Amino acid sequence: MKKLRKRKVKILFVILTVLLIVCSLRRENTTYNINTQNVINYKYILVNKGNKLNNDFIPENLVKVKRCSLGNFYLEEEAAYAYESMCVDLINKGLNISITSAYRSYDEQKELYNTYLKLYGKSYVDKYVAIPGCSEHQTGLAVDLESLEYDIFKNSQEYLWVKENSYKYGFIIRYQKGREKITGYSAEEWHIRYVGKKTAEYIYKNNITFEEYYDLFLK
Ligand code: DAL
Ligand code: ZN
Repeated sequence: MKKLRKRKVKILFVILTVLLIVCSLRRENTTYNINTQNVINYKYILVNKGNKLNNDFIPENLVKVKRCSLGNFYLEEEAAYAYESMCVDLINKGLNISITSAYRSYDEQKELYNTYLKLYGKSYVDKYVAIPGCSEHQTGLAVDLESLEYDIFKNSQEYLWVKENSYKYGFIIRYQKGREKITGYSAEEWHIRYVGKKTAEYIYKNNITFEEYYDLFLK
């Protein structure tokens, strides 16, 4: 009788453990659709592999970036002005940056994703390219930078300056080395994201990701 009870408890324990594992795996792979109407402050919007924008979502106040931009690149107004003011200070330091990508629509992201998928395969896109709807570029708050002095941004003086100073203008380096498990992407030194000065300073000084900041203060 005692043996039978022990066995039952064991079986129950195994079932519960399996259920817990299945539930946590499902939670990790769940992607939520962001209701942009519910976002209290747009600059804090969290878009990542688990949080997706609708395919028809277009930011309200896109403006063309006028400085440090050799092309037709658009950003949300507040992010654009922050970028331009950072640009003035960069130029004063004798540095030279431009933009390789800023706002991207859902369809543009889709095209980019499919092109890279064909060229480099699934394991590459999983690390570097968001699926359509899951890219911060669709928010108009993200900018990809290039140095006009040096081919590899990571090795440029421009990057060194941006890394230590962009928070003063409200930007963070969004995908950092060693944080892949949290952000979902490999390091992208060139991709900066506007979150506002207060948030950017906190993230920079505490060396955390936007996901961690979001869990702490914005959830
Ligand atoms: N490269 C980033 C992850 C994007 O595609 O939005
Ligand atoms: Zn980017």
